[in-house]
Amino acid sequence: MRVLVVGAGQMGSGIAQVCAAAGHTVSINDIDQAAIDRGLATIRRNLSRAVEKGRMQASEAAEIDKRIAPTNTPIRSADAELAIEAASEDVALKKRLFRELDSTLPKSAILASNTSSISITTLGATTNRPANVIGMHFMNPVPVMQLVEMIRGLETSDETAAFTKRFVEQLGKTPVEVNDFPGFVSNRVLMPMLNEAMFAYMEGVGSAKAIDAIMKLGMNHPMGPLELADFIGLDTCLAIMEVLHDGFGDPRYRPCPLLKKMVAAGHLGKKTGRGFYQYA
Ligand code: CAA
Repeated sequence: MRVLVVGAGQMGSGIAQVCAAAGHTVSINDIDQAAIDRGLATIRRNLSRAVEKGRMQASEAAEIDKRIAPTNTPIRSADAELAIEAASEDVALKKRLFRELDSTLPKSAILASNTSSISITTLGATTNRPANVIGMHFMNPVPVMQLVEMIRGLETSDETAAFTKRFVEQLGKTPVEVNDFPGFVSNRVLMPMLNEAMFAYMEGVGSAKAIDAIMKLGMNHPMGPLELADFIGLDTCLAIMEVLHDGFGDPRYRPCPLLKKMVAAGHLGKKTGRGFYQYA
């Protein structure tokens, strides 16, 4: 199948990799050439590691690489059967991209968003094909994580949901279908926990290391909440908390003031080298 991935950041590049590994022809689009270069470098690093570990033949890695075509021009891949949008969590940007995808791709194409919290119903309503719009929410790191949260907007058709489910299963991942409410299920449950850990840190209840150790050793989480927030990106965490806060109008979802301050300072976690921890 021909798949168009919009956005070559950490999620978009991971999605492009798993789609190409499953045999699809992938066009990865980003207007920022530097993002494309970084995204392709990550994919190549992952493929080389798989070869080094004996999980893949070098020829297979080369074939996967060849199936990914980067483009930094505005979206013009009119022949894709499926588009997966993985741009940053900005509702105005996503609406604009969905309008562009709707006017460019064949009428039968499915338009999916990897959004972690923006309403699929809203994105569908910006197009003339809301029945073909669905949430396909991959988890980070995409090549490793088993789950894809599938979100049905109010108008998403049964056919679109069935197509998406088959596609995700063919990637070797497990789709779990939910309905469109703020934060869906993954981030409605995960993000308030990370936010609460930030409050605990801000109030001096424990050091970052202590808070993370408690959740890792006590609850068997693979990463502590502050380490995970750094890994996801603090700007993304803040955007998701704001969606929950606005969507439910409930003060229990208020973003931690320290999170706001760190984002304002440009300390976005691992990707900028500084968040709750420092990175080389
Ligand atoms: N890309 C590709 N592969 C990666 C990777 C990456 N970024 N990071 C790790 N891996 C691979 C490694 O190569 C290794 O593969 P093999 O076993 O085949 O050798 C495997 O994953 C394990 O890696 P490590 O031994 O280096 O490290 P680890 O055991 O500590 O696992 C982890 C790393 C998988 C990231 C683990 O710490 C983990 O599961 N963390 C939690 C991740 C999580 O919660 N993700 C969801 C975030 S929320 C989200 O994404 C949604 C949202 O909307 C915000």
